[in-house]
Amino acid sequence: MGKDVIIACDFSSAEATFNFLDKFTEEKPFVKIGMELYYAEGPSIVKEIKKRGHRIFLDLKLHDIPNTVKKAMSVLSSLDVDMTNLHAAGTVEMMKAAVEGLTKEDGTRPILIAVTQLTSTSEARMQNELLINASINDTIVKYAENAKAAGLDGVVCSPLEAGMVKEACGKEFMTVTPGVRFADGDVGDQVRVTTPEKAKEIGSDYIVVGRPITAAENPVEAYRRCVKEFVG
Ligand code: C5P
Repeated sequence: MGKDVIIACDFSSAEATFNFLDKFTEEKPFVKIGMELYYAEGPSIVKEIKKRGHRIFLDLKLHDIPNTVKKAMSVLSSLDVDMTNLHAAGTVEMMKAAVEGLTKEDGTRPILIAVTQLTSTSEARMQNELLINASINDTIVKYAENAKAAGLDGVVCSPLEAGMVKEACGKEFMTVTPGVRFADGDVGDQVRVTTPEKAKEIGSDYIVVGRPITAAENPVEAYRRCVKEFVG
């Protein structure tokens, strides 16, 4: 499994996205397209970025009844994305349906990963509002185990949780981790952050990095620094 840096292209238009990607003349970074950009521009943004030769993580976090998720995944699969995701809270049955929908006629499919508990959900809110009577770490591990049982490839989690997920689900089970900052950089609104080097040490397979690259004075240099620290 190849370690890589995924750039979170959190822009609100295709124009801003292409202005950013045009800066990369030597490398073709793996990019993440989230809800904001996808809902603004539609499937064409995926096709255009793909045509430019980038690998794409389409981060739409699906969560609905199994049949709907299966059909939606089949549409995303035909867009030829490389990675996509859903909420593990949708149950094992929903995740199995997603795998079915995503699988192409030739048996191949994009990488499918699950969101366990969003990093914005605190343990107190999870217990008091969602009435989940467990620790947040036990919930994350259980959801990761459910994702594995359903045939998914891994989970999105904080780099600080990647170790315990690997321990429970095995080292082949992928961890894709946002919340990465350079040691000398701005933390912004992220709370539990770690550096690319530390994420590598803990065992993340992919790090998702947004503002430390997109808002850098020299994004290409920031990307290269990230790759150097994380991939080596
Ligand atoms: O700019 P920054 O590096 O904080 O961007 C991180 C990206 O990862 C954003 O697109 C954010 O939505 C996403 N993300 C996250 N935490 C999660 C899941 C996704 O920061 N738990």
